[in-house]
Amino acid sequence: VQVSFTVNTEVVRIDVEPRRTLADALREDCGLTGTHLGCEHGVCGACTVLVDDEPVRSCLMFAVQADGRAVTTVEGLQDSDGGLHRLQEAFIAHHALQCGFCTPGMLLSARHLLDRDPAPDRATIRTELSGNICRCTGYQSIVDAVAAAAQAS
Ligand code: FES
Ligand code: FES
Repeated sequence: VQVSFTVNTEVVRIDVEPRRTLADALREDCGLTGTHLGCEHGVCGACTVLVDDEPVRSCLMFAVQADGRAVTTVEGLQDSDGGLHRLQEAFIAHHALQCGFCTPGMLLSARHLLDRDPAPDRATIRTELSGNICRCTGYQSIVDAVAAAAQAS
């Protein structure tokens, strides 16, 4: 099946089987391996991307469902000058990652939060990131980083 969608700033056209997930299409057909696959059944949030600015589990979405839509992956998460997004700067500054496996999904969930609420309190940050599992950090530093990025905006 021919599928066409925008990934970050680029329009891609790929030929996929109807059963191909968006996560696999991004990683294997588009070469965008920043989207991580953990559980592959909608639990861990590692595969979170934005589709038309809404977070989705790309392991649960078929690539054909993205046809004509706009997908944002961690590779497209950058400031207007092309440098690191302020969330990425804050994750570095606050040691909000260890192995980094959860980080792309965390960043995109956090970006979706800050797009809607530029000054979330810590309870809101925790609630909004509750669909993203981290096995390393204990979450405190991630909440610190998102709070700092909010203040930096
Ligand atoms: S890999 Fe998609 S939610 Fe875990
Ligand atoms: S930094 Fe390792 S899973 Fe979150």
